[in-house]
Amino acid sequence: MSAIYSADDLIAGGEIFSRVSPPARLGVFGDPVEHSKSPAFHNAALKAAGIDASYVMIHVPAEKAADAFRALPGAGFIGTNVTIPHKAAALAAVDEADDFAQRAGSVNTVVVQGGRLLGFNTDGPGLVRAIREEFSVDLRDLRIVLLGAGGGAGRAIAVQCAMESCERLVLVNRTVDKARRLASELAPFFRSDRLVGPVERVQAIGFDEAALREQLAHADLVINATSVGMRRTDAPLIPPALLTPNLMVYDTVYASGRTRLLEDASAAGARCANGLGMLLHQGALSFEIWFNRPAPLDVMRRALMEAA
Ligand code: ATR
Repeated sequence: MSAIYSADDLIAGGEIFSRVSPPARLGVFGDPVEHSKSPAFHNAALKAAGIDASYVMIHVPAEKAADAFRALPGAGFIGTNVTIPHKAAALAAVDEADDFAQRAGSVNTVVVQGGRLLGFNTDGPGLVRAIREEFSVDLRDLRIVLLGAGGGAGRAIAVQCAMESCERLVLVNRTVDKARRLASELAPFFRSDRLVGPVERVQAIGFDEAALREQLAHADLVINATSVGMRRTDAPLIPPALLTPNLMVYDTVYASGRTRLLEDASAAGARCANGLGMLLHQGALSFEIWFNRPAPLDVMRRALMEAA
């Protein structure tokens, strides 16, 4: 397992990162961070690409996040990834963020350029690649039901679906008001002359069985963006009887084994995949942002499978 550093190691100037070999020049900020699988596949990628740098975990408590981001240039870092709970703080900390990160309200990839911090969010584009790889389809052609649209991860996925102008998007959230607000915000992306019948192309519903049944009958892809299902004892997110063989089901949770949702989907004969593909592709896209060259995807995939 890779060593875990602290926010203070960065804030103190980062000298400690030069003492390891290869020097630590990339990392992931999180709290907790020790379960991250990113060091495994990023270090494999750096080695395969012949880059003299290593990737480490950095435990960053919320109150030190802003200072830790500002310390990156002084510590000689190329950039960093950002995980729970700092993705929104990362957007606030960077000097500039790309269009998708701004709309998603979160940054998962920071690159240091000339002393400035540039922010990106590769989770959305990573999902597009993962869906294409797992199901041989493009997000933009699909009618999508997104579970947990009110969370940070859900928002990034909803924005990606909207920017791709997918055929239809149903935002499902326990607190339905959050989904409604997001649906209104994203509505402009769905206004077009495309003829899809009388239904609205973006809608918001709660976890209501009748509403879910109605929406799933007209859906191609279900995405879970909640963390429900990480524990095998979690109650089903949606009634198993609503899952049908024509559906594709993607769970962003990548806990080892299958989540309850994927178990139920698989038993119903639906095609399904867990979040490992999205994790891999968001990482590959981060590598491409840091180094402006293609990521060694197969090396990263192999390292991730070994770590998973
Ligand atoms: P993050 O921002 O990291 O995605 P979050 O803010 O905790 O995490 O959001 C998690 C998402 O999972 C939310 O959409 C949340 O629904 P609410 O907005 O109603 O809180 C959803 N969620 C969490 N537990 C849930 C449960 N038991 N059933 C349904 N949805 C749940």
